[in-house]
Amino acid sequence: VKDIRILAIESSCDETSAAVCINGKILSNFIANQTVHEKYGGVVPELASRAHMQNIVPVADAAIKAAAAKIAQAPGVGHPAFSLQDIDAIAFTQSPGLIGSLLVGVQFAKSLALALDKPLIAVHHMQAHVLANLIAEPKPDFPFLCLTVSGGHTQIVLANSPYDLKVIGETIDDAAGEAFDKSAKLLGLPYPGGPLVDKYAKEGNPLAFKFAEPQIPELNFSFSGLKTSVLYFLQARKKEDEHFIEKHMPDLCASVQYTIINILLKKLKKAVKETGVKNVCIAGGVSANSGLRTALAETGKKHGWQTFIPAFEYCTDNAAMIAITAYYKFLNNDFASLDASPAARA
Ligand code: KG4
Ligand code: ZN
Repeated sequence: VKDIRILAIESSCDETSAAVCINGKILSNFIANQTVHEKYGGVVPELASRAHMQNIVPVADAAIKAAAAKIAQAPGVGHPAFSLQDIDAIAFTQSPGLIGSLLVGVQFAKSLALALDKPLIAVHHMQAHVLANLIAEPKPDFPFLCLTVSGGHTQIVLANSPYDLKVIGETIDDAAGEAFDKSAKLLGLPYPGGPLVDKYAKEGNPLAFKFAEPQIPELNFSFSGLKTSVLYFLQARKKEDEHFIEKHMPDLCASVQYTIINILLKKLKKAVKETGVKNVCIAGGVSANSGLRTALAETGKKHGWQTFIPAFEYCTDNAAMIAITAYYKFLNNDFASLDASPAARA
């Protein structure tokens, strides 16, 4: 049987990434982070597109070279020497994302496909986040549930197979990562505030302050009320003591984090109950949160779930997850044409 070698590109938001996989095994995964956005307090689409333009060729080149070096070092595995010419397909993120960012990745992939005369594979970014759980052992068996939580998305997906992913719940307003970042901003922390909230929360009491938890039907989420609740709470307390935030930073962060985790886990428990599926994964940048990781493990233990979290480099935006998804699409003969175009929403 012939090896299947895929070069995958991810450029949906503010990371430029390229990965190579062979038969579904990741050989390289390069990610160029864009730091240009920090001083603006959020991702600036125009600047993101320009940074992708600068990064995409060097990042793809690095991914190919690293994969070639890995294969050269391990002749025992029986793969022949490898270079760009030996790629069997080029995969790219088609949607959803910032349109200018997506365009850079799509155009790069199409140009390469044309030059090498190799097929294209179009990948849905959110499906890829879910299938990141199939990159490394231990992997969940199908069916499994995946809570995908990042700066741009919050979803619960029921995965019946790599080809049958069903969104059974999602946010109706802000994403979980936005809830972290917007609360952090109200606390005077720099963007992106999620990791800092995590850091301070470790020293604080999660029950010190109580913030509003929304009552949203079914398996959907809402986070915009939390932001308002934190805002009003801080306004009232600052009237009494202008140094309130500085004095209570750990307790504030721990309480905000506790509220967000509660909102997430409540719906995850409901999803397990409704589907009867007890293989439970999380993915996305917010799955780096230490409180969420602990809470998932504890909840899983208590309710007899098998829980899974991909390695951190496969949780945040990365091309390895695009590559693994493309591998399954390749097996299914699911190729895109040269006139494929990106979509901001899909
Ligand atoms: O997946 P990601 O890197 O990018 C996308 O949004 O697609 O996720 C970034 C989000 C940001 O909102 C960031 O604040 C949040 O993940 N995040 C965290 C932590 N690390 C990253 N939130 C809470 N605790 C963390 N440790
Ligand atoms: Zn993402």
